[in-house]
Amino acid sequence: MDVLSAIKKRSSCRDFKKTQIKNEELDCLVNAALASPTAINLQDLKINVIQDKNLIHNISQECFRLMNEKTKQRMQERNADNIFYNAPTIFVLSSPKTVYSEMNAGIVAQSLCLASESLGLGSCIIGMAAPAFAETNPNNLKNRLDMADDEYFCLSVAVGYANSKKSPHELNRKQIREFY
Ligand SMILES: Cc1cc2nc3c(=O)[nH]c(=O)nc-3n(C[C@H](O)[C@H](O)[C@H](O)COP(=O)(O)O)c2cc1C
Repeated sequence: MDVLSAIKKRSSCRDFKKTQIKNEELDCLVNAALASPTAINLQDLKINVIQDKNLIHNISQECFRLMNEKTKQRMQERNADNIFYNAPTIFVLSSPKTVYSEMNAGIVAQSLCLASESLGLGSCIIGMAAPAFAETNPNNLKNRLDMADDEYFCLSVAVGYANSKKSPHELNRKQIREFY
């Protein structure tokens, strides 16, 4: 699939099949993440690839435990009891805190989503996993990912085969300012 088609067709998947993705697919995703640009080419982002069901469950449970009522309700409306929507593979992007760390993570996240789309896989960027790794949370799971003291959670991405997927969002031309 060409890049423009992948960009156009991608949408967030919130309904994954339990079937694990193939190793060849995982390799493609890892390479896509690693091929992403990082500021000053520091390549200081850690790409934690998690397929351990218990670990995925524990991260999700920790987030549910700390979730506010409004978000809990939104998850209920989505029929979701897992913040990763039961995706069998998740990528947790973490980094030392720099001016560019969030941007680096955002770019890697989109690379993962577009690569997933081109492989026929569903994906969803998950910011909601943050509380599970927050310094302020005494039960944080940083150790479980061997995260260094100065490393912090930036973003995560859920990937798997889609059971169902919504249509891509409407494009809003109001976001564009034109100076010709
Ligand atoms: C930084 C970021 C964080 C996000 N976090 C979540 C999340 O925690 N849970 C979720 O279901 N979707 C999350 N999303 C997905 C957005 O809700 C989604 O991209 C948006 O609704 C547009 O829909 P689309 O991805 O289908 O175009 C996140 C997206 C971004 C860019």
